[in-house]
Amino acid sequence: MSLKEIKDPSGKVVMRVIEYDGQLFPANVFGDVSNTLKNLNEMEFKDNDICIVSYPKSGTHWCYEIVSMLRNNTSDFQKGVPPLFGMFPVEELKQVPDGVYVSHFMPRHMPKDFIKKQCKIINIYRNPKDVVVSLFNFIKKTKAGDLMKDMPFDVFLEMFFNGQLPGGTWTKFIKEWTNFTEENPSYPLLNICYEDMKKDLRGYVKKISTFLELDSSEELMDEIALKCQFQAMAKFKNDHVPEDMKKVTDVNDKHVLYRKGEAGDWKNWLKVAQSEAFDASVKAANIPLDIKYM
Ligand code: A3P
Repeated sequence: MSLKEIKDPSGKVVMRVIEYDGQLFPANVFGDVSNTLKNLNEMEFKDNDICIVSYPKSGTHWCYEIVSMLRNNTSDFQKGVPPLFGMFPVEELKQVPDGVYVSHFMPRHMPKDFIKKQCKIINIYRNPKDVVVSLFNFIKKTKAGDLMKDMPFDVFLEMFFNGQLPGGTWTKFIKEWTNFTEENPSYPLLNICYEDMKKDLRGYVKKISTFLELDSSEELMDEIALKCQFQAMAKFKNDHVPEDMKKVTDVNDKHVLYRKGEAGDWKNWLKVAQSEAFDASVKAANIPLDIKYM
């Protein structure tokens, strides 16, 4: 484990990260990564615990709210920050009443007992062109991205491609999870495409309920689909910014995570050559998922 400085092409330090087991973790969020992972590996889970797994900015919070509403048989939003593996101390994770977690970990870093018990996983993935645009806009508002405030998009994109940012390259993350599914064909894992859920939210609420083996009423699923549309959800979240967001950002008059919630915003940001580079890298990675560029 080593503390590392990420530098932009001009040599300016833009972020401090911890390098551990081939991954970069934001230094101010994860602290002592090896100890954090060790503690997580010692944590016991219940058979019906659930985790939403994703590359950051893929719709994690959106999916989390839906799962949590279904699990708790309510259409009320959660008031706090989702319990992210690695960010919350294990003692706090153990107190999560509904057993719904979120994670940006590679499969090998998931808590051992969670995987051993075959707890359900929902993997939400999103067109990487929109992921990088979302990440660029988000990171600049965070404390971890404080030194990136002036970075042009083109430079950020280059660093994203080169796996210089926390989370590593998008293709590697997605591929490791699809490899996990191929190697563990009986593992209960549901892949959800952000763009598909955007098109048919009600259908996906039902799909998630079925995957979780819940007997959700049609009325509840109707309400959840209404409340989890972007505008309605963003309004609630902007009106109720969780206290814990202070750890992430100094912006406190709104929730920095709810930006546009669109499919296809990348067209306002990427040049043709950059878009083609994405197409080529995704094609080369041979990912067995349907990526929807819109
Ligand atoms: P944008 O920055 O493109 O708006 P994550 O939760 O993984 O960090 O992802 C954040 C992205 O999901 C943001 O994308 C955010 O706006 C979007 N998002 C959040 N809630 C959403 C919803 N109800 N519908 C669609 N997108 C949503």
